[in-house]
Amino acid sequence: MRLSVNFGATMASSFAVCRLHMRRQGGLVKCLQKLDTSLRRNIVTNVVASSAEAPQKDETDEKEGRKSFSAVQVERQGQAERSVLMSCPPKINEKKFLKYFSRHGDIKKYFFYERNGLYAVVEFAKRECVESLLEATKIPCLSNEFPMPFKSRLLSLSHYGSAASPNQQSGQQCQPQTTIPIDQLIDRLSRKESIDQQVTSLMETYQLTDDNSRLRFLVCSLLQDIAAAYFPECTIKLFGSSVNGFGKLGCDLDMFLDLDDISGRRTKKQESGLFLEYQLKTVSTERVVTQRILSFLGECLDQFGPGCNGVQKILNAHCPLVRFFHHPSGFQCDLTANNRVAMKTTELLYLYGELDPRVRHLVFIVRCWARVHGITSSISGAWITNFSLTIMVLFFLQRRNPPIIPCLDHLKDLAGPMDNSMIEGNDCTFVSDLSKIQLQRNTETLDQLLHEFFEFYSAFAFSKMSIDIRKGKEQIKPVKNHLHIQNPFDSSLNISKNVNAAQLERFVALCQESTWLLEQTKTNTPSGKGGSASTPWGLATLLQPTNVAEIKSNRKRRVGLTSDRIKGLIESLKNGTQLKKS
Ligand code: GTP
Ligand code: MG
Repeated sequence: MRLSVNFGATMASSFAVCRLHMRRQGGLVKCLQKLDTSLRRNIVTNVVASSAEAPQKDETDEKEGRKSFSAVQVERQGQAERSVLMSCPPKINEKKFLKYFSRHGDIKKYFFYERNGLYAVVEFAKRECVESLLEATKIPCLSNEFPMPFKSRLLSLSHYGSAASPNQQSGQQCQPQTTIPIDQLIDRLSRKESIDQQVTSLMETYQLTDDNSRLRFLVCSLLQDIAAAYFPECTIKLFGSSVNGFGKLGCDLDMFLDLDDISGRRTKKQESGLFLEYQLKTVSTERVVTQRILSFLGECLDQFGPGCNGVQKILNAHCPLVRFFHHPSGFQCDLTANNRVAMKTTELLYLYGELDPRVRHLVFIVRCWARVHGITSSISGAWITNFSLTIMVLFFLQRRNPPIIPCLDHLKDLAGPMDNSMIEGNDCTFVSDLSKIQLQRNTETLDQLLHEFFEFYSAFAFSKMSIDIRKGKEQIKPVKNHLHIQNPFDSSLNISKNVNAAQLERFVALCQESTWLLEQTKTNTPSGKGGSASTPWGLATLLQPTNVAEIKSNRKRRVGLTSDRIKGLIESLKNGTQLKKS
């Protein structure tokens, strides 16, 4: 006997949980009432809105000053909660598309992107509009397969009937969600006329776009809907390069499940009288709690999570995680739990990036350079990580004279009472209000800084000293790791203890090589060459893959160059002339 279940009526909806938090009063009714008038208005204003939004946003930012990390997170999370993600037919009439979605309320923003087909993100003005849209969304009728009964805000848009009508448009404007190959980037940079233009081009090509950031927050929000079905008060937050300002298109999506509000940690002691507590199962350590929750959520994502593929549970790692691929967005996702120190580190990196544009530019160039030359890698091993590399750049900028960015201890001194933060016994306090930070006047240009960065680490005493952004000064190395970079929030930990001697040596060799290359660039600009405009120069030269043999031979050349420089120095001292740094 075959048991038949009607999932249509009882289908679990992760969104239903969220609806509990929404103000329901008359949302749908209001939407329907104003349908007639808003339809025309929406279509007109929204087509304009998508192109007019950017300048409006810039103006607001200027008025309000730079936004704090938490303000940006709140804004982005809000956008994500009011958004839906959908696959679309290859040809679609944009006017019809807007008319269809406007039935459920004002659309604030929408965009299309390509990923093995056309996708769209629609952000409504209110969450009630999403609820109204989902109520009108059908469950697919499949002939040979059976749907898993789990509704989410990941949808499929199709045309009624089989064929698209003749007035369907194709070629929706789609911004890239991934980077271009390195040879194309080198070609693009080679055609620029100054290092400044090269930097701008590199940033425009590689950094996360506004749409890509929105998509990242939306994927995180979709996962939160799933987790909230079991842990209604949990939040899933983004950390790492998706939100620290140093993200490159295509970077992974680091998320953590914040259970802090339901872990009991924040419960105040009762003075007297009666009080109630939940009866809960207990386990021996917090790590076991994390492992169990992640294991369970991993199973949910694998079994029911729309768009979640290749789920791996890596629960015995130092920081247990669930790794999976989110197919509609193309993001490689890592979900951890209660990783609040990493969130603070992310905020710190964001803050440093906001202080001076040279910070982000330099981090970007160095990260790109490191990836091309295999100093960093997408797989874990004895390589320097992007995170370590970013801290190395920050440290270098703290060591400039005058410093371009302050040390972490100074940021702690500026903190207000609201900034106090103790996490797992570590003091993670630092100022969050960017306007309280006064920078010293340093006018070094980016190409000077890049050159100096490579020179700084070509000669850094890695064998004796450690890098410490808290003090902004190198410290005597406490242990014998090859590369020692202190964890900003726990000075007893080294964030680069995985790096072996060979990898550090390669890094130093490449820094020396790049110093030499940049010295050549000074007399070797595109106009100076007189050759083809696309002959690599400046940053493009730095990003050309070099093999180690070439570096070794160039090291000899570099030794010659250094001794020449020392000879010149002695000569100048003899002559009593003032020397300029090369
Ligand atoms: P991508 O390579 O673009 O992903 O850079 P990322 O900064 O996101 O690095 P990753 O995904 O490896 O790590 C995510 C975040 O975890 C980092 O930004 C840090 O906040 C934190 N993190 C990574 N590695 C370490 C580490 O060794 N120690 C500490 N304390 N935090 C780390
Ligand atoms: Mg990452």
